[in-house]
Amino acid sequence: MSNIAILCSGGDVSGMNPALKHFVEYSLQKGLRPFFIYDGLEGLIDNNIQEVSYSDVSGIITRGGTKIGSSRSKRFMHKEYRKIAKKNLDALGIDMLVVMGGDGSFRGMEIFYKEHGVKFCGIPSTIDNDINGTDYCLGVDTALNIIKTSIDAIRDTASSFKRAFVIETMGRDCGYLALISHLTSGSELCLIPEVPYDLKDYEEDFKNQIKNGRRYFIAIVSEGIQEDSQEIATWFEEKIGMESRVSVLGHIQRGGNPSIYDRLMAYKFVNYAIDGLLHQKNESVICYTKNGFEFKSIKEVTSKTKELDTQLLTCLECS
Ligand code: F6P
Repeated sequence: MSNIAILCSGGDVSGMNPALKHFVEYSLQKGLRPFFIYDGLEGLIDNNIQEVSYSDVSGIITRGGTKIGSSRSKRFMHKEYRKIAKKNLDALGIDMLVVMGGDGSFRGMEIFYKEHGVKFCGIPSTIDNDINGTDYCLGVDTALNIIKTSIDAIRDTASSFKRAFVIETMGRDCGYLALISHLTSGSELCLIPEVPYDLKDYEEDFKNQIKNGRRYFIAIVSEGIQEDSQEIATWFEEKIGMESRVSVLGHIQRGGNPSIYDRLMAYKFVNYAIDGLLHQKNESVICYTKNGFEFKSIKEVTSKTKELDTQLLTCLECS
């Protein structure tokens, strides 16, 4: 019987718990002994590893976050700690890992594989949807739904008070969450790091809209743009002449009850990851594209910054 473990690395996403549940169920079905590594790569170094079974995952499918914890490990970047990690895995006879995380974690795992031969499969997991080679990362749909609910609620108060609202979404350097939220919520302005802008270009139009009866504005801005959200709000007050407020959505975007789509994607990602590991996919990431699920090399996934879909960018220009 082979032993297989799973861990979460980097920012948690809603969808990790459904993935953990299916990991246990599918491993057992395949005749594997499943283990959880708690608190990400930190737990791998600290030997925070436990064999698990059905009872460990009962009732978690509805919960956001990750039952086993996550971390952004600095220690794993150092050879001596990777040696300790390998020793811990050997003591438990674990030679296959499923890693839910982002490109930084996958890079670390590739080094670990090259040094110590521990097979792994990455499941792209970040609300930023910024991993090259995959159209979808676990957690994105739930995050978008939370943003949608927040914008819809803010619209109610914005329209009641004749105010401009600057709503800041997460995404680090990637504007995907902001862009999709803009296109699907009918906001008036969307600013993302990928597209240069000049606020002056909007001034005349926005002032005319107010003259023609507009009562409020919704602006969706991604973290990582050239100005901070408060500066955009000040611009609304000083140049457009409308009272404004900032709403930074922050970490609420990372939590919450996983959507149906994320539960289903968690299920599929885990199936492919385990099957891949059992069929000599020794160092890969399971990606989802228009061709379906595909195993991609770490090089392909990590060597380039993901670019936003050009069709979506065209939609932004027309919006
Ligand atoms: O990568 C996911 C993400 O939520 C980013 O969108 C954001 O910039 C960052 O993590 C926040 O990190 P932390 O939770 O460490 O504050």
